Amino acid sequence: MRGVLLAVFLAGATALATALATALATLPVKFGDALNPKFHHPRCLQCHQFNSARQQGRAYHSHSARFLCDKCHSTNITGLPRGEWIAPPERMDWTDLNARDTCLLIKRNLAGEDPAQKMLTHLLGDVRVRWALDSGMTPGGRFPAVPGGYAEFAKQAQEWVEGGMLCE
Ligand code: HEC
Ligand code: HEC
Repeated sequence: MRGVLLAVFLAGATALATALATALATLPVKFGDALNPKFHHPRCLQCHQFNSARQQGRAYHSHSARFLCDKCHSTNITGLPRGEWIAPPERMDWTDLNARDTCLLIKRNLAGEDPAQKMLTHLLGDVRVRWALDSGMTPGGRFPAVPGGYAEFAKQAQEWVEGGMLCE
């Protein structure tokens, strides 16, 4: 009798877990779920705040006299093609922004034919994004890459873009 009860209970629990997993899987994916913490990892931020006066990015202290980026961040260190190790303009700095505002900022520049494809191409194909996810190597040594690496990030980015790039 106890065995039967246990079996019934287990079957019920399994059904419940399956129903729960399905419900969770169909919840809309928001930027804040998985991507926002990764965007705010130091490997992304250190470069994105490079030219930010407000954040006192590296252009304002350790790198104030360093211009030829490739001279030190060379291909054999970063794995990037020549000319690709560059920092974004200040308006692309999302250092202090919350998930919603970070999301709005990165969507702002997506005008054109196919914004979703543009976003996906950037998140999955940009060499600098890739460096932050899988390398972290600098002329001063290797800094920790974003946890989860490219594989996890690519999956999460794809889910978010396919879900309509929801900010909240
Ligand atoms: C070596 C510096 C560098 C690193 C590291 C870096 N980026 Fe960037 N990022 C750039 C530059 C430069 C641009 C602008 C040029 C372009 O659009 O391709 C940019 C643009 C972007 C944009 C487009 C922003 C907009 O407003 O259009 C997104 C999104 C982005 N990066 C995400 C990331 C994420 C996420 C990471 C970390 C996983 C990261 N970046 C790491 C340099 C970097
Ligand atoms: C003279 C050599 C040299 C030059 C030139 C140079 N860097 Fe650096 N850079 C370094 C060293 C060394 C480090 C590691 C120590 C540190 O964090 O400052 C570094 C670190 C960085 C980091 C921090 C990486 C992280 O994820 O923490 C960024 C971003 C960066 N450099 C961008 C640039 C950009 C953009 C340029 C060109 C405008 C540039 N660097 C030019 C030597 C250089």
